[in-house]
Amino acid sequence: MPGAPETVLTGGTIVTPDGLHRADVAIRDGVITAIGREARRGQQLDITGLTVLPGVIDSQVHFREPGFEHKENLESGTRAAVLGGVCSVFEMPNTLPPTTSAEAFDDKLRRARGRAWADHAFFVGASHDNIDDLAELERLPGCSGVKIFMGSSTGTLLVPDDPSLARVLASGTRRCAIHAEDQDRLNELKALASDGASVEMHPQVRDPAAALMATRRILDLARAAGRPVHVLHISTADELPLLAAAKDIATAETTPNHLTLTAPQCYVELGTRAQMNPPVRDKSHQDALWEHGIRGGVIDVIGSDHAPHTLEEKALPYPKSPAGMPGTQTLLPVMLDHVHRGRLTLERLADLASATPARIYGARGKGAVAVGYDADLTIVDLNAERTIRNDWIASPAGWTPFDGKIVRGWPIMTMIRGRLAMREDEVLGTPMGQPVTFATDGDG
Ligand code: DOR
Repeated sequence: MPGAPETVLTGGTIVTPDGLHRADVAIRDGVITAIGREARRGQQLDITGLTVLPGVIDSQVHFREPGFEHKENLESGTRAAVLGGVCSVFEMPNTLPPTTSAEAFDDKLRRARGRAWADHAFFVGASHDNIDDLAELERLPGCSGVKIFMGSSTGTLLVPDDPSLARVLASGTRRCAIHAEDQDRLNELKALASDGASVEMHPQVRDPAAALMATRRILDLARAAGRPVHVLHISTADELPLLAAAKDIATAETTPNHLTLTAPQCYVELGTRAQMNPPVRDKSHQDALWEHGIRGGVIDVIGSDHAPHTLEEKALPYPKSPAGMPGTQTLLPVMLDHVHRGRLTLERLADLASATPARIYGARGKGAVAVGYDADLTIVDLNAERTIRNDWIASPAGWTPFDGKIVRGWPIMTMIRGRLAMREDEVLGTPMGQPVTFATDGDG
């Protein structure tokens, strides 16, 4: 609505690529119109003492709808997101049915309408049956791209072999998101997880070689095809040099889980709740993820890999227990605590959790506190000390691996296109999330 009154956030500190600045932020029609002192006109919202990050984008979530709504649905998953300071989510295709057709994709968009608290986009899953359709599917409005499972995980999606992977990469142009674990290697190791095995075996059952082999293969295939890829949830030290040598064609992601939980302790303390694919590994891998991945710059994105399962499901004996943990709500508090401990800067976090996911997937108007961008703002109190608790978790699953963890730094407001969706741990109003738009929308 042209001429709508400006809202001005006053007194806050904004996080930009060149540092932290005290500045006011003026917003009209959901877009940032001015930054700085001259912005002081219109309705003011005093955020003195708070820090404004570009709206967090969690570009790897599994919201389970349709098919597994007892674990999560699009309403609860996006509510969890905004409670955790996340403005946009990109959702994965391993639902039931899997998101492998235009019909299944449209169904997700329809289900999200009026129920999503956060802005959202959906991945299309690659399967042997839809390879020739992928170039068209990846251009559907609201699509964040194609996701390939090279190794089997939750659900049925799987493209394990090089000839099929090459065909997938040749079908379309956008950056493909990759689950890189080598299926042949996983099959070879399966016997290690015979009934009665302990979940502490999980990092050997899906071992570093499985991740390394798949990452090496997909980087070679991507280069041969000239198709950019984004390798998800990097878990090993071994993959980092390969990824560092492949910046021409590949970007990489890790999760707060891999940066925070450590084997074997996490399996001793959390049992199968700590089970995810690829696994949380020992401290040598985690140290490398911090040193070479985060500080060295090899990791481009932090995504939660939010993958809820109920506690009853998780209580099944390993290896029948499903892999995955809720995470979108805790992504930011856990990472802000790492900032507090000096492990990364706030600027780097803004890059990993907002600017870069927006850039690599081509999201329009997202990823910066800058004039002309959507007023997607994650407003945090860097000094708030809180304890993460299961009863704060919005997912029907109702638990987090970080239950009892004391963190410094907490999301206070989640603003999406100029509207407050969350303030002080409460969602506000009604779900107003919209599909994210991408640079490819409308391209033919
Ligand atoms: O641990 C995982 N859980 N890894 C995946 O790749 C899938 C996810 C899920 O959907 O449960």
